[in-house]
Amino acid sequence: MDLAGTTIALTGATGFLGSHIAIELARRGAHVRGVVRTPSKGDWLAEAHGVRFARADLGDRDSLKAAFDGADIVVSNAAAVGTGKTYEAFYEANVQGTENVMQAIAEAGVPRAVVVSTIGVYKTRLLGRNDESTPMLQGRERALSSLFTDWRYSSTKAEAERRAWDLAAEHGIDLTTVRPGPIYGERDDKLTTRYAKALKRRVVFAPTLKLPHVHAGDVAQVIAAALEREISVGRAYNVVGDNYSPHRIAHTWRRLAGTGPTIVPLFVPLSGRFDDQRAREELGYRPRSLEEGLAGCVAEHAT
Ligand SMILES: NC(=O)c1ccc[n+]([C@@H]2O[C@H](COP(=O)([O-])OP(=O)(O)OC[C@H]3O[C@@H](n4cnc5c(N)ncnc54)[C@H](OP(=O)(O)O)[C@@H]3O)[C@@H](O)[C@H]2O)c1
Repeated sequence: MDLAGTTIALTGATGFLGSHIAIELARRGAHVRGVVRTPSKGDWLAEAHGVRFARADLGDRDSLKAAFDGADIVVSNAAAVGTGKTYEAFYEANVQGTENVMQAIAEAGVPRAVVVSTIGVYKTRLLGRNDESTPMLQGRERALSSLFTDWRYSSTKAEAERRAWDLAAEHGIDLTTVRPGPIYGERDDKLTTRYAKALKRRVVFAPTLKLPHVHAGDVAQVIAAALEREISVGRAYNVVGDNYSPHRIAHTWRRLAGTGPTIVPLFVPLSGRFDDQRAREELGYRPRSLEEGLAGCVAEHAT
């Protein structure tokens, strides 16, 4: 589908990834309708990228339905993310919120949707690589990834994705899910900000453990490509980028900034094993280089 001239309702458009998705879809000529709790947070997106806003909450299906009315596509991106919330709070936003979004899509008669999921939904697989066939977490099950990510977030995202598939089948909605790895980029108050803060110290101890890092702009491009290509209907896509160690990131950041701390390597000879070959083959996904991805982040955190 050519996205030019389509109307795309995007939940969480004022969040970190949401802002990158909004900009990418607008760049391809879509009319982007940000579906958010606080439209004033998106004034800059309205001014610079022509995004319009509708107010809605994941807990209020009627507000979602009203916001989705007349849209050609819904991108479900809003979620409770990060740490420090109860299981119930994650469940309410992620599982019940996704149910509300999918029901509202059906009620508004929108035929096409993308749900943003995460590679955190997978059970631990000790052998081989984790592609989209890796089984997902069930109930309150925990995976090894809970060493890095709150297990409540991962398990509720797995249940949310399962419900999204069930409701898409029940209502005949053409669904694609996108499962990013850890995302970095401009306007990120999580991973990127942690790097930026660490690199303001005089000495940094940086593990050589290699983990996936994907730039938010690359995730946005995969979502747009999925919407453009019919093959993605009924499919899930990992989008994990290349593996980089915090040690490599620290060195690259320091080089781009032209200044920075003493970096001491902590040797951890392990590497993440996620596979995003399907997105590369079917959606033309090509991750940007680390240098390219970090340049804007370094500039943003320069002061
Ligand atoms: N960041 C990562 O590394 C990563 C990795 C894999 C997948 N993901 C997925 O990417 C998506 C976006 O995450 P992000 O990192 O961009 O997080 P974020 O910056 O916290 O954005 C989340 C957005 O969801 C909105 N939201 C939360 N609860 C809501 C509710 N009850 N009603 C309406 N909106 C609500 C927030 O709105 P407010 O602005 O009003 O708070 C915010 O705009 C999520 O689905 C997440 O699971 C993220």
